[in-house]
Amino acid sequence: MGLIAPSILSADFAALGEDIEAITKGGADWIHVDVMDGSFVPNISIGLPVVSAIRGRTTLPFDVHLMIVHPSLYFKDFADAGADWISFHWEAEVHADRAVSRLKELGVKAGIVLNPATPVSVLEDLLPQLDYVLLMSVNPGFGGQTFIPYVTQKIVKLRAMAQEKNPNLIIQVDGGVDAGNIRMLKEAGADCFVAGSAVFRGRTLEKNLQTLRDAMA
Ligand code: DX5
Ligand code: ZN
Repeated sequence: MGLIAPSILSADFAALGEDIEAITKGGADWIHVDVMDGSFVPNISIGLPVVSAIRGRTTLPFDVHLMIVHPSLYFKDFADAGADWISFHWEAEVHADRAVSRLKELGVKAGIVLNPATPVSVLEDLLPQLDYVLLMSVNPGFGGQTFIPYVTQKIVKLRAMAQEKNPNLIIQVDGGVDAGNIRMLKEAGADCFVAGSAVFRGRTLEKNLQTLRDAMA
């Protein structure tokens, strides 16, 4: 599996609908929506009204990455706004088990995100309940940062854990993904690649998506 999930954090916010249509046409698999609250991460991005506003522009799944404190307070709102996949940070939620159950009750796919420095071992017992795990390969908060190399080993470790505990788990990687490392990340065991700058750079969205796709093959 090799899914590409463009992060709209790098899109033109004044023309978000058009950009969503362009990445859909260019063959994106998921739309990755980075929600930041200025508290869990030192940046503020977009929230519920924007997700609702753009939902009608594509039939692709919306993958909402919550970089917010108290994420479970907002699960229902994001599900109602049209999120299909929702991930929250391990570091932001004291009751991860309860939060995952809540996502399942809402009928959305449930994911947990780990910051670069959080070891994959924290998920050992919860892994069977998860649809996906997002491994951050930059410190969250901003697009355009450099990939942190040790995260590759985390992908390898998590894939080995998943082989035993949840063979259908989707491993997603986010931050600094580009045509130069996407193939290596796939070989390490990742299935879904979030890319912001690599998709939107130069505003040649469709061409950039093709470059990523070719690099992965
Ligand atoms: C960072 C976000 C990422 C980011 C990816 O906090 O979660 O999705 O926008 O951007 P690039 O691909 O530019 O690193
Ligand atoms: Zn993200």
